[in-house]
Amino acid sequence: MTKRTALLVGATGLVGQNLLPLLLDAGVWKRVTTLSRRPIDLQHRRLRQKVFDFDTMAAHADAIAADDIFCCLGTTLREAGDKARFHRVDYDYSMQVATLAQRAGAEHFLLLSALGADEKSLFFYSQVKGRLERDLVQLNYPRTSIFQPSLLLGERRQQRSMERWAGWALTRLDPLLAQGPLSHLRAVPAQRVALAMRQVAVERPFPGPHTYTCRDIFAWSAALSLQSER
Ligand SMILES: NC(=O)c1ccc[n+]([C@@H]2O[C@H](COP(=O)([O-])OP(=O)(O)OC[C@H]3O[C@@H](n4cnc5c(N)ncnc54)[C@H](OP(=O)(O)O)[C@@H]3O)[C@@H](O)[C@H]2O)c1
Repeated sequence: MTKRTALLVGATGLVGQNLLPLLLDAGVWKRVTTLSRRPIDLQHRRLRQKVFDFDTMAAHADAIAADDIFCCLGTTLREAGDKARFHRVDYDYSMQVATLAQRAGAEHFLLLSALGADEKSLFFYSQVKGRLERDLVQLNYPRTSIFQPSLLLGERRQQRSMERWAGWALTRLDPLLAQGPLSHLRAVPAQRVALAMRQVAVERPFPGPHTYTCRDIFAWSAALSLQSER
């Protein structure tokens, strides 16, 4: 067991729920802290939960300190209600965590972003993701790992009908997408994204900023997911 510590934001989400047990059981982090607005129904000797309204994040700066920061935070325009609230969650909260954690000496920031993130995109969602990626990289962490999955597959507490239909279609197209130049469009199980994030944090393959496409996510999670599927 090393002396490294981890902090996970978005641990109650689809990817975060898959990532939390992987971090706790990795034997790499002596402590895993979660930041969430509601308690997580899990007890573990290495788990520390910090539950608060994210609008009061500055008052909880002491809790935002670890070597490896995993950010799986996000909402949808539908859930947020309007663009300003979407921006608040997906951009402001994520940047606030990144800034506070850096001040506390964090070494590696791992951001769950999205395919198509581009500050110049015509789509507001992709613009916000692109601005977040740009500004995060400008913080100059020793390591910044940005994951850009296409559609996430997995069981959600509240099903989203558009995502369910897109998942159905992309899963059927997967044999075609997997081999060709469009493999970055493949829908990806949330568990594989979590596995890839964990493995990149363990192996720390690149200094500075590095982006992982869907193709990379499948590659980084391949050996591990095959083990867990045996
Ligand atoms: N859906 C896709 O197919 C897809 C594809 C590519 C990339 N992404 C991106 O990947 C990231 C994670 O996606 P996901 O599907 O795993 O997310 P998710 O299941 O919707 O979970 C989002 C997480 O953010 C938290 N959160 C949302 N609003 C919050 C607020 N106001 N205050 C505090 N916490 C808040 C949620 O907490 P609660 O549980 O308390 O709500 C949850 O832990 C997002 O940034 C998303 O944009 C998604």
